[in-house]
Amino acid sequence: MAEHPAYPVGLRLAGRRVVVLGGGQVAQRRLPALVAAGADIRLVSPEATPSVEAMADAGEITWEQRPYAEGDLADAWYALIATSDTAANDAASAEGERHRVWCVRSDDADRATAWTPATGHSEGVTVAVLTTEARHRDPRHTAAIRDAVVEGLRDGTLVAPHRRTRTPGVALVGGGPGDPDLITVRGRRLLAEADVVIADRLGPRDLLAELPPHVEVIDAAKIPYGRFMAQEAINNALIEHAKQGKAVVRLKGGDPFVFGRGMEEAQALAEAGIACTVVPGISSTISVPGAAGIPVTHRGVAHEFTVVSGHVAPDDERSLVDWPSLAKLTGTLVILMGVDKIGKIAGTLIAHGKSPDTPVALVQEGTTAAQRRVDATLATVAEVAVAEEVRPPAVIVVGEVVAVGPHGTA
Ligand SMILES: C[S@@+](CC[C@H](N)C(=O)[O-])C[C@H]1O[C@@H](n2cnc3c(N)ncnc32)[C@H](O)[C@@H]1O
Repeated sequence: MAEHPAYPVGLRLAGRRVVVLGGGQVAQRRLPALVAAGADIRLVSPEATPSVEAMADAGEITWEQRPYAEGDLADAWYALIATSDTAANDAASAEGERHRVWCVRSDDADRATAWTPATGHSEGVTVAVLTTEARHRDPRHTAAIRDAVVEGLRDGTLVAPHRRTRTPGVALVGGGPGDPDLITVRGRRLLAEADVVIADRLGPRDLLAELPPHVEVIDAAKIPYGRFMAQEAINNALIEHAKQGKAVVRLKGGDPFVFGRGMEEAQALAEAGIACTVVPGISSTISVPGAAGIPVTHRGVAHEFTVVSGHVAPDDERSLVDWPSLAKLTGTLVILMGVDKIGKIAGTLIAHGKSPDTPVALVQEGTTAAQRRVDATLATVAEVAVAEEVRPPAVIVVGEVVAVGPHGTA
C-alpha cells in the first residue's frame, strides 16, 4: 500500500473528553499539554507516576484506577494509548477504529491513527514538527528541528517580524551583566526586531555588532544634551524615535530597575503617551559575584544580602545609605559603583563595628572576557584596590561568603 503523509491539524480539545490509557512516563510527558488545552481528561490505569498522581489530586484529570476495559473510548474525541500491555493497546486501538476516535500509540506508531508532533511555543505561536511518513520517523530529528526553530525565534537568530501585532513603542530591556549569553530570550528577540537601539556603556555590547545594518544604534553617553540633563536628553531621544513609529529598544546593563534609572524613563514615556514594555535583566548584583565564585548567600554563613550604591561617600550629605546600620548586619554587603569611595566606605564600616578582617572581593568587568577578581579585607581594601588598579565597573562584595568558594582565601 502506498504510504501517504500524515495530515497536520490543531485539535481544539477544550471541554472534550480525552482518554489516556496508562499512567507512566508517556502520559506524564503528554498530559500537561492536554491539561493546557482544557481537555476533559480521563486516565485509565492501575498505576501512575507520582507526577501523574499529583495531577489527579489537583483535579486536573480524572483517574480511574483499573486496567483498560472495552467501552472506555466510547465517548472520547481523542485517545492516548500508552499502557505496557500490548494486547490491551491493540484492543483499545481496535475500539478507537470502531468509534472513529483518533488514537496515538506509544508502543507502535504504525498502528496509530494519529501522531504527536514535537511541539514548542514562541510568542503565541505553536511550532509543531511532524514526520511526513512512517518509514522516515525519527523522533530525535523532529525534536531537533523543533528546537532549532523555537530557539531561533526566541533568541532572535530566526526573525519572523510581527506584521500584525508589532506596535511602535519603547522596550526597556535589561541586557544582563555583559556576557551576551546572559540577556533574556525576550530581550534578545526585541533587540532583533528593533529599528533603533539606544545602548549604555554597560551590558552586552557584543550583541550590537550582530544587529542588521538598517538598525540605528545610538550610544546613550554620546547623545548631545545642550540645555537638558543627560537623562532628559535620553528620555527625549526615546520619545522622538518612538513618535516616528519606530520600534525602539533602550538596552541597559543588568536590570533596568537596579540603579538603572529605568523608572525615570518609563515615567517620561508614560507622560508622553508612549507604550513601554519593561524586560527584566540579570543584575550584576548577584551574577557578577557568582561569576567570580562568590555566592551572595550560603547556608550557615549568610542569611541575607544587602545591595547598596557606593557612588557617594558615607560622609556626603547626598548619601541615603545608613552605613552605621549596615556595619551591624551579619550578612553580605554588595556594593555597586563603589570603587572610588571604597576607602571611606571600609573606614566607616570598621568605625561602626565591622571587623577589619572581614573578607572583601572586588570583581571587575564580571562575566566578560576581561573579568578579574581581587581579594582583600576591610582593613586592606583601599590600598589593594589602588595597588591592583581596580577600575569600574566593579562589584564589591563584603562578608564571609567571599571566602567560602574554591577561589576564596579562607
Ligand atoms: C549604574 S549601575 C547599573 C547596575 C545594573 N542596572 C545592574 O542591575 O547590574 C552600574 C554599576 O553596576 C556594576 N556593574 C554592572 N555590570 C558590571 C559588570 N559586568 N562587572 C562588574 N560590575 C558591574 C558596577 O558596580 C557598575 O558601576
